[in-house]
Amino acid sequence: MDIEECIKTRRSIRQFKNGSLSEKEIQDILSLAILAPAPHHTKPWRFVIVNQEKRSAFADAMGAKWRLDLLKDNIKEDNIEKLLLKSKEKIIAAPTLIIGCIDKASLRHYDDASKDNYEMIMSHHSFGAALQNILLIANQRNLAAYWISSPLYAPQESQKVLNYPTEWQAVAAIAIGKNKNNFTQPKRTQVPINNYMHWVS
Ligand SMILES: Cc1cc2nc3c(=O)[nH]c(=O)nc-3n(C[C@H](O)[C@H](O)[C@H](O)COP(=O)(O)O)c2cc1C
Repeated sequence: MDIEECIKTRRSIRQFKNGSLSEKEIQDILSLAILAPAPHHTKPWRFVIVNQEKRSAFADAMGAKWRLDLLKDNIKEDNIEKLLLKSKEKIIAAPTLIIGCIDKASLRHYDDASKDNYEMIMSHHSFGAALQNILLIANQRNLAAYWISSPLYAPQESQKVLNYPTEWQAVAAIAIGKNKNNFTQPKRTQVPINNYMHWVS
């Protein structure tokens, strides 16, 4: 598959065949993820592979934080339960679950808080590029994969329960595994490109 075809056919796929990826497959994919561009060659990406035994505790730890946020938003208790359960099911159903982190220790630091903030924003850009590498290589290898943003909202809870270095800040998870019977999402509706553009003359 050439690069253009790979970009065009990449979709978030949330249905998987049973069975996690091998260590070698995970290493291969992450070796490509970390070829992403990064600000000042900082290499800010880190990855935590969460085995099945830890999934429930991980989802519960993030869920406890999310519950507090939802209560603040006045969401009803039974709706909260449904949302937490759905989120936990996704975490458990992922054949392989990779938490993506930014290593804060790898970033440039300044005395100026706003400059530090830009460094963090740039590291998120770089993380997105790394994650897109994962999604594209997954597509090329006929794997199913999708982005899960819940760890972004509970970075401390995530770190505590999974016990990775405290300087690693969770920003997303990726669920990845074998594609269930070559499942593909319905085709996209094409939006005219000029809708996203502003030409300056
Ligand atoms: C920053 C970001 C966060 C996302 N978070 C989630 C998520 O928490 N759960 C989920 O199912 N999909 C998530 N997605 C996937 C989007 O829903 C998906 O990319 C979008 O619907 C477009 O579909 P496509 O990826 O098939 O083109 C996320 C995507 C991005 C870029």
